Amino acid sequence: MDVAIMVCLCYFCISKMYKMFPVEKIRTDFPILQRQVNGKPLVYFDNAATSQTPQVVIDAIVDYYSNYNANIHRGVHTLSQEATDKYEGARIKIQQHFNAEKAYEIIFTSGTTHGINMIAAGFTDILTKGDEIIVSALEHHSNIVPWQMLCEKTGAELKVIPMLENGTLDMNAFDEILSNNTKLVFCNHVSNALGTINPIKEITEKAHQVGAAVLIDGAQATPHIKPNVQELDVDFYVASAHKICGPTGVGILYGKEKWLQKLPPYQGGGEMIETVTFKKTTYAGLPHKFEAGTPNICGGIAFGVALDYMNTIGFDTIATYENELLEYATRKLLEIEGTTIYGTSNKTAVISFNIERIHPYDMGAILDKLGVAVRTGHHCAQPIMSFYNIPGTIRASFAFYNTKAEIDIFIDAVKKAKMMLS
Ligand code: ALA
Repeated sequence: MDVAIMVCLCYFCISKMYKMFPVEKIRTDFPILQRQVNGKPLVYFDNAATSQTPQVVIDAIVDYYSNYNANIHRGVHTLSQEATDKYEGARIKIQQHFNAEKAYEIIFTSGTTHGINMIAAGFTDILTKGDEIIVSALEHHSNIVPWQMLCEKTGAELKVIPMLENGTLDMNAFDEILSNNTKLVFCNHVSNALGTINPIKEITEKAHQVGAAVLIDGAQATPHIKPNVQELDVDFYVASAHKICGPTGVGILYGKEKWLQKLPPYQGGGEMIETVTFKKTTYAGLPHKFEAGTPNICGGIAFGVALDYMNTIGFDTIATYENELLEYATRKLLEIEGTTIYGTSNKTAVISFNIERIHPYDMGAILDKLGVAVRTGHHCAQPIMSFYNIPGTIRASFAFYNTKAEIDIFIDAVKKAKMMLS
């Protein structure tokens, strides 16, 4: 029987039997969750930075390097063909997961940042002075800096959708800044710093009414939500494998065919050409036009396995369970005096918070001593920190393999740290 079907049946049977999310079974899939940190069981609440890796994905990586490591699209020999088939098979799995119309609309990248920079570079010869690019106030620096660089090169102007106190976007202000000059709108699907889920469909519909293209950063949405790029009608969507139980160093750029045809290649090199002479080069078709050089072959294949793994559990089931964790942790945390949570509306399982008079770094360092991994600081989203007038936050971000028992350990650790630091 196919491994994916066996895993699926197993989770299905257990969840039916116990009428609950089979988290203890799922945890056995992740070897790292067994380890200790500073003599304490690891409580890993830094999933928004990177997710942990299940054994099936580790096995896929070992299998690749043990059995069929070879360059793809280049050899008639067996290993090269096997590697090519698996890599292109992964592209099809990713196409199906994101519901792209065509497999060649999925471009492999090294991650979300790479995908954003590819699009920014592609628009260099399209934008001119007088054009406008809109980004949201909730962006990660990787969604701000490439557009500033593009504006410097082209003379286009950067405009910002402001945010509201509850961590959502001010959509009335978006209506006001959107105009016929807007050529690109850029927004994350979910904010990395606060977890806010942004109204992508509404943004896309409005942007398209003025003829602007829409690029969505799905890095933080994809661990929690299965994005349907055709239904959202986005022009581009970028994501990273390592946030979705896959390895680091690989991600995807989805682009509508009409845009990918229109944009120039990002890099020149092998495999992205049709013919080369010293007079002229013609480019290969999609997706190869954007995939110069030897890619992260193993990473792409492992990305496909990671998506299989998460799909066998099911994104709806994951979202329901993670919401329970979010509600439980929010309630417990607010019982601690002096707690402020930033971002309080329509969000994924992320809690960004501070405790009165305690610096987030100090809290993070003590939590680590107690075995609890969180991220502290500005989370590469300094404009959000400036909005709240704070240096940073403590961010606990949950995944489907976390438990309420771990939240209890985390809450106790926060209380201890508070006592030590007050
Ligand atoms: N962008 C990642 C985060 O939010 C690294 O932590």
